[in-house]
Parts: sequence; structure tokens; C-alpha cells
Amino acid sequence: TYVVTDNCIKCKFMDCVEVCPVDCFYEGDNMLVIHPDECIDCGVCEPECPAEAIKPDTEPGLDKWLKVNTQYAELWPNITIKRDPPADAEKYDGETGKFEKYFS
Ligand code: SF4
Ligand code: F3S
Repeated sequence: TYVVTDNCIKCKFMDCVEVCPVDCFYEGDNMLVIHPDECIDCGVCEPECPAEAIKPDTEPGLDKWLKVNTQYAELWPNITIKRDPPADAEKYDGETGKFEKYFS
């Protein structure tokens, strides 16, 4: 599966939802997650994310993000249509430790 990671938080550009062939993105207040059981590993979303927040879970160090994606995909609503990103999205692009600071 692919997973959404830290840099999505407060950027939430939503380009990813438009390209997913199985509509497996789920929306929280300030980030999206992928449902790992629904993702078919096609990889098309990865280059679409301007924040480079989407990664294959085969990359090392992503255990925490696999857990976050798994847990919240069950709780949050599905999203398939892109809206405008937050007005200050660019400001948060590349900031580190966003999960600890802002996740909700
Ligand atoms: Fe959707 Fe493909 Fe991305 Fe998985 S890898 S979330 S199936 S676009
Ligand atoms: Fe987040 Fe990137 Fe999608 S910032 S909402 S994973 S396009």
C-alpha cells in the first residue's frame, strides 16, 4: 500500500484524490489518509502530491504512518473530489514534526 505521511498535514492539497482509481482517500481536518486495504498499489498518486507526502510503505521508517493511515481511514469520511487547499498551505510545506504539533 501507499501511505500519506507528515507533510500532508496543514498542506492538504488534495490533488491525490482526483487520480486514485479506487477512491481510497479519507479526509480529516488537516490531512488525508489512504485506506491500506483498499489501495491497489498503482502508484499514480505519489507524483501528484505537491508536498511529496505520499510514499510506498515499503520505504523504511513508515510503520507509524501505516498505523495512522489504517486507524483513521476507518474513522474519517471518504473524499473523491478536490477542493481548494487551505489558504496558508504553502507556509507549512516542508515544516517538520507536524504530526506532533498539529494533527487532529
Ligand atoms: Fe489510490 Fe493508487 Fe494511490 Fe493507492 S497508490 S492510494 S490505489 S492512487
Ligand atoms: Fe495531502 Fe498531498 Fe493529497 S498534501 S491531500 S497527500 S495531494
